[in-house]
Amino acid sequence: MTRESDAPHPALVPAPVVDDRAWHALERSSILVVDDDPGILATVTRFLEREGHVVEGVSDLTGARAALAARDVFLVVTDITLAYGETGLQLLAEVRETHPGVEVVLMTANSEVSSAVEALKHGAFDYLCKPFPFEQLRAAVSHVVDHIRARERAAMLDQIETRRMAEEEQLEQFLVSMATAVDAKSRFTALHSQRVSGLCRLFAEALGFDRERTELVALGGRLHDIGKIGTPDAILDKPGPLTAQEFAVIQEHPAKGDELVAPVKALARLRPMIRWHHETLDGKGYPDGLPGDAVPEEAWVVKVADFWEAITARRPYRAPMSLEQAVACLRGEAGVKIPRDYVETFLEAIQGAPLALPAGTA
Ligand SMILES: [Fe+2]
Ligand SMILES: [Fe+2]
Repeated sequence: MTRESDAPHPALVPAPVVDDRAWHALERSSILVVDDDPGILATVTRFLEREGHVVEGVSDLTGARAALAARDVFLVVTDITLAYGETGLQLLAEVRETHPGVEVVLMTANSEVSSAVEALKHGAFDYLCKPFPFEQLRAAVSHVVDHIRARERAAMLDQIETRRMAEEEQLEQFLVSMATAVDAKSRFTALHSQRVSGLCRLFAEALGFDRERTELVALGGRLHDIGKIGTPDAILDKPGPLTAQEFAVIQEHPAKGDELVAPVKALARLRPMIRWHHETLDGKGYPDGLPGDAVPEEAWVVKVADFWEAITARRPYRAPMSLEQAVACLRGEAGVKIPRDYVETFLEAIQGAPLALPAGTA
């Protein structure tokens, strides 16, 4: 590249932030107390208000339904036995049905403990045996608050994870579009990165990579030349040998591509393939002149696939090599520029694959 790329930077993914709006919402939310005994209703309501909660007290199911419809309630504390044959268990069933996020704590007389225990199986959060000390009520409410916070936090983290995965997918799509744009810059390199990607997949499978690693190198192959987005078309398309200066411009693309993806943490595993696919065994490659044993396996996969695709494709200054010429050319690199075992494994991997045939013969 002769200048910094004008392409939009892909580092657009905001760092996930756990916001605490749900916490504050919980603090503004109410507790609904239901008891047909006016004395107990008043005492429990007053106690919870003194604890800092917003509380509404009602004596029957009609009042409870109205309160649930009108207010944001996070907890219902209800007596099991209400007047006129109504019960807190009925209310529990309704709340579970219509307000699944609302927790229910039952207040029960000793004689009703077995039905309270049964109610736990049907989704009650807890029960309190009357008469209960205020500390018990305080502890029950505090457990409910902790439980709801934990639940909301888990839901939020879930949402963040889902959003992060969707954003990563979008980012990948965006980069693949960029790679397609790079291929399209020159009529001679159309489909280059797609073909390299396919060859990477074949090679990775032959090397025994697992599925995830195979997909990673296939994506690395697709994006390896992304840094060419800023390389002048006149150089890419030049119908003759490049000058030293032009070659120096071409040589900038691995580092430029790496700079492009470096700010995005999710793409960290692609960086070695983008940056080091022109390194060589003898340490004379670019951009870093890494000693051969420091070049990671993924980068070798992309390098060999890229090399093969380049020699078997038409270029502005030469026709594609024949299969025999290409095999001889790649073997010529073995032990000098590319480790010998990679060369031989690659040649085995592409046996019979139409994708590997020189341009115009597939
Ligand atoms: Fe390249
Ligand atoms: Fe390439």
